[in-house]
Amino acid sequence: MSEQNRIPVHEPEIGDDEVASVVAALRRGEISGSFGTALPEFEQSFAAYVGCKHGIAVTSGTAALHLAVQAAGIGAGDEVLMSASTNIATALAAFNNNAVSLPVDSEETTWNLDPDLIESLVTRRTRAIIPVHLFGHPCEMDRIMDIAGRHNLTIIEDCAESHGASWKGRMTGSFGDMGCFSFYANKVITTGEGGMVVTNNEKLAATLRSLRNMAFGKPRFFHEVAGHNFRMTGFQAAMGLAQLGKIDRILADKRRIAHTYNRFLEDVPGLQLPAELPGAVNVYWMYAVVVRPEFGISRDELAGHLSARGIESRTFFCPLNQQPFLRDQAGFREVPCPVADSLWETGLYLPSANHLDEPTIARVCEAIRDMSTSGAKGKAAVTHSAG
Ligand SMILES: Cc1ncc(COP(=O)(O)O)c(C=O)c1O
Repeated sequence: MSEQNRIPVHEPEIGDDEVASVVAALRRGEISGSFGTALPEFEQSFAAYVGCKHGIAVTSGTAALHLAVQAAGIGAGDEVLMSASTNIATALAAFNNNAVSLPVDSEETTWNLDPDLIESLVTRRTRAIIPVHLFGHPCEMDRIMDIAGRHNLTIIEDCAESHGASWKGRMTGSFGDMGCFSFYANKVITTGEGGMVVTNNEKLAATLRSLRNMAFGKPRFFHEVAGHNFRMTGFQAAMGLAQLGKIDRILADKRRIAHTYNRFLEDVPGLQLPAELPGAVNVYWMYAVVVRPEFGISRDELAGHLSARGIESRTFFCPLNQQPFLRDQAGFREVPCPVADSLWETGLYLPSANHLDEPTIARVCEAIRDMSTSGAKGKAAVTHSAG
């Protein structure tokens, strides 16, 4: 298989606008995270896009989550409830602040945390919930906010995969006390590495800004608390501004790709396709499917066959209840997560780069149909539409 014919799961889209914006920032000397105009402009523009007053740009989504947990005053002896099926960064935010993460199992339609399970896990020690808007589908934030209100819990949204997604007309990241975004290379918009915390809370914004920049005190070089150097550079912010300028088109491409996959795969028995609940706008960060027994071969066999045909895919996340270092942590509590366990065995995401055209998606879908032992392969269902 030549490299040319390989279809990667993702390819970042860096065009002339990004190059011009970064070069202009470099020419203005905006190489650090302390000076210049690109950084505050990116923070304000992105926060406004989400519908929040403040944006605090940092070095990664992992750093954003870490700062948010720390700014909420969460530490030793505290528990944080969070989606079981997530990138390890969500749990690291609790772990590296000496708090214990408690996984909330997934529900089977959206693969997000199941709101019905949250309250049974709340204890005296519970301080926060981190709902993760997985693969770009928003969590049911109205229900989660209600629960948080009843138990006086902080909400930190993990929006690393959900830029532009909304629930009942409101953007993810604008519901909770803080929303944390990633701008890693494969995210909806990217600064290479990078992240941001958004919030409407003035006090939290000030704390986040201070912790991001080593928590300088008064006089300067006097530190009452331990901070970090989590500063994003000005030229990364300049790239973020160029990307933000294209976000509507990027999101339209993500939805076009998902709808094309849906059309080609909807009648394949044993394949669960991504959902979009009433009230949700799913941005389909990555197009993900679940391979059920009726498909005829396992998820791993399917991934192997796709790879042999030059088509990359990735599994869903290993759930938090199975992570050895979390199980070894003092205060660990066993919480069964049968749905998240099964998603780890059966979930797969497919090539999702913004520029994927219909013939390329058709090639992926034909390869999938060929491997279905259920009869779908017999049908000539992958037909190209004119548009
Ligand atoms: C759900 C989720 N949370 C957090 C992160 C961490 O973001 P970053 O890679 O920018 O540290 C990622 C992705 O990498 C993610 O997918």
